[in-house]
Amino acid sequence: MLLGVNIDHVATVREARKSFEPDLITAAVLSQLGGADSITVHLRQDRRHIQEQDIIILKTALSVPLNVEISSAGTMLEFVCNIRPDKVCLVPESPSEVTTEGGLNLKSRKVFLQTAKAVKKLRANDIEASLFIEPETEMVDLALKAGADAVEINTKDYSESESLSDIDRAYDSLLKIASYASKKRLIVNMGHGLTYDNVSPIARIENVTELNIGHSIVAKAVFYGIEKAVKMMRKEIDQA
Ligand code: PXP
Repeated sequence: MLLGVNIDHVATVREARKSFEPDLITAAVLSQLGGADSITVHLRQDRRHIQEQDIIILKTALSVPLNVEISSAGTMLEFVCNIRPDKVCLVPESPSEVTTEGGLNLKSRKVFLQTAKAVKKLRANDIEASLFIEPETEMVDLALKAGADAVEINTKDYSESESLSDIDRAYDSLLKIASYASKKRLIVNMGHGLTYDNVSPIARIENVTELNIGHSIVAKAVFYGIEKAVKMMRKEIDQA
């Protein structure tokens, strides 16, 4: 299973002082050396961590695919279509959230139409279009209808559940949705809240192409360095 490393929080530390360090490109290159199969960054409307300039440089500096998360509102869609990263994952975004809170609500006609329009534009620019969704069959059907190449399934319920029965229930829905979405020929990725301690069962799910993991790896990197932190996550996934 592939590992996508989200390096947003390297930029969070940099932006805390509006400084030039820690250097994001060094973090990306060291993540690649540690075994990252792709690098993810989230260009948020408030630019709280990743900036346009980061994406422009990452696009030329990386030898692995670049995945950019954006909301389809605002100017970000136009920007990514000019820069042309390998993949774009459309996510919902609210200004007050600490991190992405849930998948796209494709059941809303307004959200569906805006998403389908964005997917069309991304695909016309040769960018793989992915939609961040909750593990529900109806959402998979709507993602397909919107023309997406891929879905990223939100693992938040699994990663944030506290009782064993809730974890089992959340895991079961991830198993079912991975099978359902792959039968529909969608690329299936997963992410949100995955850590060194909870990733193994997720890494055993068949039909999942890539896991996107950010906070836990950057947190580990504070103590071990980012190359080693990525290697440690790679090992958890490979030995699952
Ligand atoms: N996938 C999506 C769509 C996200 O928005 C995020 C958080 O930026 C992640 C994966 C990674 O989540 P985490 O930082 O909890 O590993």
